[in-house]
Amino acid sequence: MSSFQTGDDRSFQSVAEKVPLKGANRLKIDYLGNLDIPFKEDEGMDVVQGLSRSPKTLPPKYFYDDRGSQLFEQICDLPEYYLTRTETAILQQYAGAIAQHTGACELVELGSGSSTKTRLLLEAYQAQDHPLCYRPIDVSGGILESSAQRLLQAYDQLKIHALVGTYEQALQTLSDAYLPQRMICFLGSSLGNLTPDECDRFFDQVRLALRSGGYFLLGVDLHKATAQLEAAYNDSQGVTAAFNLNLLHHLNWRFNGNFDVAQFEHFAFYNTELQQIEMHLRSLKSQTISLKTLNLTIEMAAGETIRSEISRKFDLATLRSQLQAKGLQTLQVWQDTNQWFGLLLCQCREL
Ligand code: TRP
Repeated sequence: MSSFQTGDDRSFQSVAEKVPLKGANRLKIDYLGNLDIPFKEDEGMDVVQGLSRSPKTLPPKYFYDDRGSQLFEQICDLPEYYLTRTETAILQQYAGAIAQHTGACELVELGSGSSTKTRLLLEAYQAQDHPLCYRPIDVSGGILESSAQRLLQAYDQLKIHALVGTYEQALQTLSDAYLPQRMICFLGSSLGNLTPDECDRFFDQVRLALRSGGYFLLGVDLHKATAQLEAAYNDSQGVTAAFNLNLLHHLNWRFNGNFDVAQFEHFAFYNTELQQIEMHLRSLKSQTISLKTLNLTIEMAAGETIRSEISRKFDLATLRSQLQAKGLQTLQVWQDTNQWFGLLLCQCREL
């Protein structure tokens, strides 16, 4: 009789838990900054600085307006772009182990985009009956809102508190974890898009956003043959080229500029010395460009380039010791069988 009672209680409880949470309380979106709206206050100084430098550079965050975010989703599906597929396969295999290791925790994702890979983590936490609390962070408000809505439909126990803004803005703003612990996820080898100095500061910010014992899940692309790397950033359908050139469209719209996009071409190569893919926009002729809102006029020679992105490739041992020096201890590294990509689960320790 008593064992029947216990069983009955338990089944009643689990039914009660599965009642969908009320919609209105499940989604909160805070706007810290948003690339989908035009020029704001003192914005754009980073563009002025980058374009006044020699060689010229542009900050990669301007890739991710709504159109850029869509193009990036297409890049992830390209046959040459092995990164997303490989990382997804690793997550498919090990998301359960990650959830088991961390137990219940709030999932913060930097640069969440469409949140496709995150679903694998949400599934794993759900399968282990952990409460689902997700904090996506992205500079594109459009993609953040639409993917949050889709996630709420797919997971009726999920709560989302999204932040629209840059990594730095968001890491500084993150309030206390809704759950006892937090895991900051940084997937897709976005770490490679930071310079070594930026990377250093970024690790400090990650650490500050974690309590002791908090987790950091990091996906990184590893060293490999130049031909394979270069193919991934020069796809045959020209999607990466469109993504790169969209940066100029975005700047025109945002800062009232007059880049003639047809007079530029996409150019990407592996810099073996710095161990990074570099993406450039090459001027096809000598031209003068102005961005009115920023009061900026620049001259470009024929053949001159603007470096729009770097994608550094990593060595696991070096990366682990860098993390360690920042108080982020690697607990486990998972890789695909080709060892193209690495997924590191790190834990924040007292320094
Ligand atoms: N972080 C990914 C990478 O370095 C995604 C990315 C950033 C990307 N910028 C890109 C991919 C430009 C293709 C082109 O690969």
